[in-house]
Amino acid sequence: MNYTMIFLALLAGFSPNLHPPQPAALALADRPPMGWNSWNRFGCKIDENLIRQTADAMVASGMKAAGYQYVNIDDCWMAPVRDTLGNLQSDPVRFSHGIRQLADYVHAQGLKLGIYSSAGTKTCEGLPASLDHEVADAKKFAEWGVDYLKYDNCNDEKRPDIARYTAMRDALKATGRPIVYSLCNWGHEKPWEWGKSVGGMLWRTTGDISDKWTSMIGILDQQVGLEKYSGPGGWNDPDMLEVGNGQMTFTEYIAHFSLWAILNAPLIAGNDLRTMSDTTRAILTNRAVIAVNQDWGGEQGSLLHSDGNTQVWVKPMRDKSKAVVLLNRGTSPTSISIQLADLGFKPSSKYQALDLWAHTVQQLDQVLQSGVPAHGAAMFIVKEGR
Ligand code: GLA
Repeated sequence: MNYTMIFLALLAGFSPNLHPPQPAALALADRPPMGWNSWNRFGCKIDENLIRQTADAMVASGMKAAGYQYVNIDDCWMAPVRDTLGNLQSDPVRFSHGIRQLADYVHAQGLKLGIYSSAGTKTCEGLPASLDHEVADAKKFAEWGVDYLKYDNCNDEKRPDIARYTAMRDALKATGRPIVYSLCNWGHEKPWEWGKSVGGMLWRTTGDISDKWTSMIGILDQQVGLEKYSGPGGWNDPDMLEVGNGQMTFTEYIAHFSLWAILNAPLIAGNDLRTMSDTTRAILTNRAVIAVNQDWGGEQGSLLHSDGNTQVWVKPMRDKSKAVVLLNRGTSPTSISIQLADLGFKPSSKYQALDLWAHTVQQLDQVLQSGVPAHGAAMFIVKEGR
């Protein structure tokens, strides 16, 4: 596969004849949530203008049309103290118009607003958080029109995770407002085993990602074996995307996005949508790759084969085709192949592979094979037929 061709295809916005994104989900988090979050790029340097402009950019860039929906404010939106009634309030300077108005703005763009708190006495940045304030805080979130809560784990008073996360689940439920509940306890106490039972619709499986190849690959390695815990309504969350944040190459970002897609990870962009390059936008809006992420064929993608620096990740698709990521973790280009029989296909039929980044189709006999650049990935749909 030729990566110059891929970039040209990306920039030209060439799109193959694949399934468009599926219609809106009926239930919350029926499919992996898609959106944006402020933390990876902005940390605490956030304000209401950033959130408004990000909502605008999500629409203008085509991300909304590609399926992105949630505009999520992470840590540092709240004032350093609760109000006189004991309620959380937004920072009086950076979010001076309050969250309600911001939610109205985001909703008017046809998008949804997410917010952040911690199942502790304070957030990770030392601001007021929701432990023992669950009922009041959930009520506020619902009154404000919040659609998604990322619930962190800092300053937990050493109280058991399940009790703390259950308390917020009950409080959110009591509001009657549908709110996506995202558990962010960094994989402590194996949330994949109990996340769904405490109302979690996604749960972080690891510590924080950073914008480095080694960080992304380190998180990938911790996903092995977790595939059986993921499914509609409750997803493994290997943390938010770093695509476009500048410390990895575009080839590495293509690998990152391909892998998160095949893992059915929530696709929460973490870059500056207002200023992203056309290449970053093209990676984040690759509809064929997004369609793999949003398809539920009964199992999250998993590691099929590993040999030195090369790996093959596979996911069954609803239409019986297979999504395949060929990953080169090494520092030199290589060729990776996998027998179709190892993908579970019968030897008698004819097969074809659609290259989801180069947008080409190749006929296959018994083997899928592709050149893969250093720190890169190729991604295919393999299906029966000519
Ligand atoms: C934790 C979370 C991050 C982010 C920060 C905010 O580290 O894991 O994703 O929310 O807190 O302080």
